[in-house]
Amino acid sequence: MKAALFSALAFLLFSSTIVADQPNAVLDVSGQELLTGTDYYVLPVIRGRGGGLTLGSATNADPNTGCPLVVVQEQLEVSSGLPLYFSPVNVEQQGGIVRVSTDFNVIFNASSICVQSTLWELAFDESLQKFVVATGGVPGNPGPETLNNWFKIERFEDDYKLAFCPGVCDICRPVCGDLGVFIDDDGVRRLVLADEPLKVMFRRA
Ligand SMILES: *[C@@H]1O[C@H](CO)[C@@H](O)[C@H](O)[C@H]1NC(C)=O
Repeated sequence: MKAALFSALAFLLFSSTIVADQPNAVLDVSGQELLTGTDYYVLPVIRGRGGGLTLGSATNADPNTGCPLVVVQEQLEVSSGLPLYFSPVNVEQQGGIVRVSTDFNVIFNASSICVQSTLWELAFDESLQKFVVATGGVPGNPGPETLNNWFKIERFEDDYKLAFCPGVCDICRPVCGDLGVFIDDDGVRRLVLADEPLKVMFRRA
């Protein structure tokens, strides 16, 4: 009896330590934990200022093809954008829980005519003089060569925000910041490193 009680207590202590070590799971709009390798729409929380995240042409895109593509926000609130999924640092571990403050590849699950992949990648836009979220590159392979490919979800008030501050390379000094929306001269809502984060929520696709 005593032994059983002791082992139950030990188990409780042990399991609470495990829980305390891990950052919180990110929850979708229906309160379910986000899973890697599963499609979600990333939607704005604040209404009346655009829709979900999708692909759009870069400022330097070829006028005929529209390539390369970058990440933009839909103009219309009713548009959910494209489904995307989060892929962990260890690509073998798909199906795990997406936790806050953890590096992930973010990949639109959509085909495009452009040669680049649909994996998010931070890039500097010369004409905007801003860091923007472009696309390209390969998933996984964490380290200095893929530094620009890792994004995080952070808690923001009662919702979430997206951030870039990769921890995949100890000696690197990346630019760190939140992802927000910059509306360019043509009214395109571009996802950029910004002082004011876009407050987002996740809906399973
Ligand atoms: C991507 O979309 C296809 C077609 O809808 C689906 O079969 C597949 O499971 C999706 N992949 C991921 C990783 O979400």
